[in-house]
Parts: sequence; structure tokens; C-alpha cells
Amino acid sequence: MLDARYSIRSHVAGSLRPEHAGQTVTVAGWVHRRRDHGGLVFIDLRDRSGLVQCVFDPDTSGPAFVVAEEVRSEWVVAFTGTVRMRPEGTVNPDLATGQVEVVVASAEVLNTSGTPPFEVDSAIETDEALRLKYRYIDLRRPEVLEAFVLRDRITQRFRKSLEHRGFMEVETPILGRSTPEGARDFIVPSRLSPGAFYALPQSPQLFKQLLMVGGIERYYQIARCFRDEDLRADRQPEFTQIDIEMSFVRQDDLLQMMEEVMDEVMHEAGVHLDLPLARLTYAEAMDRYGSDRPDLRFGMELTDVSGVFTASQFKVFADALGSGGVVKGIAARGAGDWSRGRIDALNQDALDAGAKGLAWVAFTSTGEVRSPVAKFFTADELAGLREAFAAEPGDLVLMIADAREVANEVLGMLRVKMAEELELPREGFATLWVVDFPLFKWDAEEKRWDANHHPFTRPFDDHLGLIESDPGAVLSYSYDLVMNGLEIGGGTLRIHDVEVQRRVLSVLGHGEQDATDQFGFLLEALSLGAPPHGGIALGLDRLVMVLAGKHSIRDVIAFPKTSSGACPLTGAPDTVSARQLRDVHLKVD
Ligand code: AMO
Ligand code: AMP
Repeated sequence: MLDARYSIRSHVAGSLRPEHAGQTVTVAGWVHRRRDHGGLVFIDLRDRSGLVQCVFDPDTSGPAFVVAEEVRSEWVVAFTGTVRMRPEGTVNPDLATGQVEVVVASAEVLNTSGTPPFEVDSAIETDEALRLKYRYIDLRRPEVLEAFVLRDRITQRFRKSLEHRGFMEVETPILGRSTPEGARDFIVPSRLSPGAFYALPQSPQLFKQLLMVGGIERYYQIARCFRDEDLRADRQPEFTQIDIEMSFVRQDDLLQMMEEVMDEVMHEAGVHLDLPLARLTYAEAMDRYGSDRPDLRFGMELTDVSGVFTASQFKVFADALGSGGVVKGIAARGAGDWSRGRIDALNQDALDAGAKGLAWVAFTSTGEVRSPVAKFFTADELAGLREAFAAEPGDLVLMIADAREVANEVLGMLRVKMAEELELPREGFATLWVVDFPLFKWDAEEKRWDANHHPFTRPFDDHLGLIESDPGAVLSYSYDLVMNGLEIGGGTLRIHDVEVQRRVLSVLGHGEQDATDQFGFLLEALSLGAPPHGGIALGLDRLVMVLAGKHSIRDVIAFPKTSSGACPLTGAPDTVSARQLRDVHLKVD
């Protein structure tokens, strides 16, 4: 909370209330709005705490009145005057200070301002590029500021909650070696070692594990992470994690601790969590929602109708089922009367997402059945389909016949899209754990196994025997925290046995020598008394974005990058001088 200590003020603008009536106060801030009421001049003075109305009277304000006539929007001023109750009928119930005003006796201009590039008025829509170029003006808007106030409160709460549970804050290096979190590294050339580079951390993953080997036991850090990936609404090249690691824990210990902390943190945003949180296995989440970060604010679950079509004459369905695939679908309530064009657009979305086609059956509100594929169905199959989807007039059934993974993924995308298009009510903060991810995922393009989370994730104890023989079947101690369809955090128990770590690295294509070259320091640490440990990292920016009800991560970062990775304010990235390049032994092509 902003207050008037250590400043030229006696009070902050937003704090003035009827109890201050009669007091002489000094306030300082920006000229938010100036109104000339034929004689009286009113100036709304704004500081971080809010607005207060200041009144200038030509008869009593003296030289201050001259200042009032001269100032313009966004000039920086200090006013001294008397607080009084506003006259009957001029009270503003929408303003915290709306019952009072300051009758100004003396006024000082602390600084003038040119015409701002846009008005500091939340109601006025302004182009984002301009807002980011002048972020310091944008931040003066109460509605923009609000997200940063919330971000601060949440950050402080994390610190308190973790500290209460015995966590120690430790900083880890920014200039380091590349850690394989799966994105591209930002690299920094070294002046002292010609031709060598540091990598900025994609996360403090290996350092926090080394802290566990070092006996820190419970670590946290508000850690900046850097990933050179393509940007989206919920992604920035640098972002902040609440990074956590613990020793001597089982998965349930960690999840319970995290739920308690999250509950305390969410309270700061006035949100109540029902504990314990729901848990879905990865397999269930994919099967029911077609996503490993399902949005549980609405239903529209995926339904498997393979059983209805076992004897289908429809070649598309028969082929998919014959080759071990499935026929699955969703019922979108309220889309049964959609136009052909609108449904064709969904078909295109499905194709773009990797499906071979989209089979749809529309049950119109007048009781008709429209569908390009229903003609291939028997009466029994159509009845079976109707029953499986509990289809009513007004529903649109969308089906995909394909390998299970493809059908799930495409339907998961369509489910979210339909919820958006149908404007289904999506309220509250549907929070859950998705657990038990596979340890590896197959990279079909590169024809090799990849780590699903990262290479240090611990396989299920009873799956250790499958690491080489059936990598795809190995599940891991792993968990993602999901809120409203967004991945807010993720973590795993770690491998603390050096042999298991070597075996996992080997499946990932790191032979003995390569593993030693790249991860020798970790392997050595694991063989020098590493306790069992695990952790999690929460995406602070994403969490604040969801809690603040914002749709872009840029709204909760003071100086964010644009989608092309540029800083509109400073112009970074930019070229550097030939001298700087020479210093770090680089030539630019
Ligand atoms: P992970 O890579 O899942 O895990 O990251 C953890 C969380 O960080 C957030 N996040 C991002 N937020 C904004 N912009 C990005 N580019 C971005 N990338 C990730 C997400 C994500 O859930 N070291 C492991 C954690 C661990 O195992 O303890 C890690 O970094 O909310
Ligand atoms: P076709 O026989 O290929 O002309 O397809 C007939 C209909 O089935 C079209 O509407 C396609 O979009 C749809 N379709 C094709 N392949 C699939 C599939 N794998 N899953 C669901 N529908 C499909």
C-alpha cells in the first residue's frame, strides 16, 4: 500500500475520506483531468493510490488559481489545501475519495509534460504497439496498474508461504551451460574464452537438483527463465518461475504442500480452492478431454463410439477401426443448426490439426438429421450414435476416426474451439493436477525418443525394467498444475540413482561418452550422496494472467516483448559496435 511517509506529501491522493474533512493536506501526483466550470477549476490529481478532486476558486485560491489555469494533462504537481465534504449532489459514489475534495490554497508545478501519446484513461482503447512503446504512460492507467499490484501480492504471498514451510531462497547463475528443457537457448559469447558461449538458463533445473545434493533440502527462487521459442499469447522469451525443489519427499507430499501454498496464494486474489485438488492421469485427461491441460469449466467430454461402428459399412470408420484405431467424437449442444459453411470451417481446422477428415451429424432443432456421412450408417448405428452422445435436436456431433492419439488431440482442439464459438459459460478457476505422464515421447520426424518433461524425471519404480525394452510404456512421477485450460506449472520427482540416469540418457540418444561430456557434473553429483528429491516450477506470469482475467501474458509483464521478440520501448534487440563484436571474437555474416 502506498502511503505518504518519506515524501513531500502529507497524504496520498486515494486515501482521503470524510474523516479528513477540515485538515490541511499536501498531495502530489499527475494532473489526470482538468475541468473549467466557468469560474471554478477542478483538477483530478492522480497518484498510484488513486484520484482526488481538487478545487480552485479564483476568489480564494490566489496564485494557486493561476497554476490551475496553466497546467495540462500529465503535468506533475503538488497541491496544499483543506479537505472538505463535497456539496450535496456532487458526491461521486464510484470514487473511493468521492465524498470529499481538496480546496487548494497553494500549488506548485513539479514538472510539465508534453502532450501524452494517448490519454491516461482506462476507458479509451489504445493500440498495443503504442502502449508498449510508451509503457511508462500506460502503467499510469489504473486498469493496467491493477495487474501489477496483483502480481506483487501473489509474489509476496509465495515468499511468505514457502518461507513458513522451511524453504530457503537461493539464487542460481544466469550465465551457465545449456540445460535441455526442450527449447532453443539464448547464448552469450565469452570474451575470456574465445569461441565459447554461455547459455541463459531455460530454468534453474540442474542447479536446484545440485542444491539438493548440497543438503539445502527445501529451495525456492523467483527465477527468470529464458527460452528462444516462438511466442504466443501465453509465452514470452523471458518469463518468471516460482521454482521449488524438496528432498526426501514422495509425490503426494509435494502435491499436498503445493496445494496448501496455492490455496494461500489464491486467497490474495479472492479465490477459494477446494482441496484436495482433482487429479487426472495423463491417460485419462487425453481420453476424456483430448488434452493434457483440460479446461474443466465446461463438459463436452470425448465419447468413444467405436463400439457402435464395429460392423460399419462406412469405409473411413471401418479402415480406422480395422487398423487398431478408434471412432471418437464430441456433441456440441446448440450447434445443430449451424450452416454448412461454418461446419466446413471446422473440417478445415480438423485437417490442419492432422485429422484425415471430420465426420459430422447435425440434429437440427426442427428434428431433421443433416450429415454427409449418415447415409453410410444403418438405422441401428444412427440410433446407437444418438444414444452414445445423448444427442437432442439442436446438437452437432463431430467425429474423428483415426489412431487414438490423433483422434484425441484433434477432438481436444475442437472441444475448446466449440466452447469458445458457442460462448459456453466458463466461470471460476478450474484447477487440477494432471499426473503420471509417460517418461518419453516419440519424435516421429527425428525418429528418436524425447523426454516428455526433461531427462532428469524419475520413472515409476516398477517400470524401471521397461526403460530399454518398451520406452513408450514407462510412466513417470510427474505432475502439471492446470487452471482453466492453461498449464500453470509442472514438475517431477527426479532420478537420484546415477545408473538409472545413465539408462534414461542412453534411450534419449546420449551414449556413455556423450552423457559424460554433457552431464558429467550431474552424474558425478548423483554418485556423491544425492538424496531422493523432486520439485515443481510455476509460471508466475501465466498464473497472474489467469487470476487477473487477462488474455495476454504481456498484460502482466511490465516491459514485455512483442511476438517477434522485440522490446518496442528500447528497440532491443539491436546491433552492437564492431568493437564489441571484436571483444567477444565474433564476426557477423
Ligand atoms: P516447465 O518447462 O514445464 O518446467 O516450465 C514450468 C512452467 O513455466 C511456465 N512457462 C512459461 N511461461 C511463459 N512463457 C514461456 N515461454 C514459458 N515456458 C514455460 C509454464 C510452465 O508450466 N524445470 C522444470 C520444472 C521442474 O521440473 O521443476 C520446468 O522448467 O507455466
Ligand atoms: P470421403 O469418403 O473421404 O469423401 O469422406 C467422407 C466424409 O468422411 C467426409 O465428410 C470426410 O470429411 C469424412 N472423413 C474422412 N476421413 C475421416 C476420418 N478419418 N475421420 C472422420 N471423418 C472422416
